[in-house]
Amino acid sequence: MLIKKSAFFLIMVVKKDVVEGEEIVDDAPKKKVSKKKEEEAPKLIDIPGVGPGAVAKLEAAGIYELMGLAVLTAAQLSDTAGMSESVARKAIQAARKMMDMGFVDGLAHEEKRKELFNITTGSKNLDNLLGGKGIQTKAITEAFGAFGSGKTQLALSLAVGVQLPVEQGGANGKAVYIDTEGTFRPERVRQFAEGIGANPDKVLKNILVARAFNSDHQMLLLDRVADLIKDGEPIRLMIIDSLTAHFRAEFSGRGQLADRQQRLNRYLHNLMKVAEQNNLAVYVTNQVMSDPAQMFGDPTKAIGGNIVGHACTYRLYLRRGKKDSRVCKLIDSPDLPDNETVFMIETDGLKDIEI
Ligand code: GTP
Ligand code: MG
Repeated sequence: MLIKKSAFFLIMVVKKDVVEGEEIVDDAPKKKVSKKKEEEAPKLIDIPGVGPGAVAKLEAAGIYELMGLAVLTAAQLSDTAGMSESVARKAIQAARKMMDMGFVDGLAHEEKRKELFNITTGSKNLDNLLGGKGIQTKAITEAFGAFGSGKTQLALSLAVGVQLPVEQGGANGKAVYIDTEGTFRPERVRQFAEGIGANPDKVLKNILVARAFNSDHQMLLLDRVADLIKDGEPIRLMIIDSLTAHFRAEFSGRGQLADRQQRLNRYLHNLMKVAEQNNLAVYVTNQVMSDPAQMFGDPTKAIGGNIVGHACTYRLYLRRGKKDSRVCKLIDSPDLPDNETVFMIETDGLKDIEI
């Protein structure tokens, strides 16, 4: 509770007046999501045959939502909730119906994807690597690399880019910055804003910063972000810098690895849920470690293993290149070829160099 309260105060909540300068946009209209609509989402108790006793048993078994029940077999549900198999079968069918689970045709899916926004990184080369327009909403983009490779600089550039109007490569929205390492630098944001001719004060006001002091706090802050969105904040980008540092520090013993991975997995799952439900982009940074098993080539490996690798939609590997440039490699994208590009970190932003 204490943590939650301090989290609330830590978030430097930025009220309306988004940037009104020529380059950066006005606030998207605040949408009040009515309480009623929230209540309309069906809950376990709304399923015929599932009473308060069954709900308590299901919750004790870690099933809180319709989806959790809908994917059970009748025998599993009957065991877990203490109901007969025939009631369980009917409850599962009802839950599946209520959830509108199933298929949409490709055309409808394509239509839904048109709602997506893209956010420019500030560098054309990087944007092109990501398919032409930068990072995407309803997706998690991970940047991993050694210290000084540019992960935080890219985060700051995106936090400025998201505020641009759609025609200029932004998403006309605000950014949330969850800072686990105390490396958020307002002065760098100012420089980036000046670099594109925007008003630095207004740009800074549209970035909601919270310091996460440990992994529990980091997870709690996600709820706060969901609350802010419900309250109508036009958030289109959530940055977690760094995704893994707290988890890595807190679960460092050998015996704790499984626990750490499980918690990371849950966190990533929740991140994706917030991204999909609210059409926002998630950008996370990740450290690397040396992989002694790698005899040849680059021994650098991202923290978090397959759990992070699979949960992130786009993975970027950043490293220092020649003449102070940065090399960025796209790995494992669902729709783009693996490729790499080069850019520079300069005082007023990320810049392209000839490739
Ligand atoms: P860790 O968080 O330590 O893992 O590293 P990171 O990948 O987040 O590094 P970050 O993005 O902070 O990059 C730091 C690097 O950016 C510095 O080493 C500089 O090369 C460059 N940089 C930072 N600020 C400036 C600046 O004002 N001007 C220029 N030209 N370069 C800068
Ligand atoms: Mg950093």
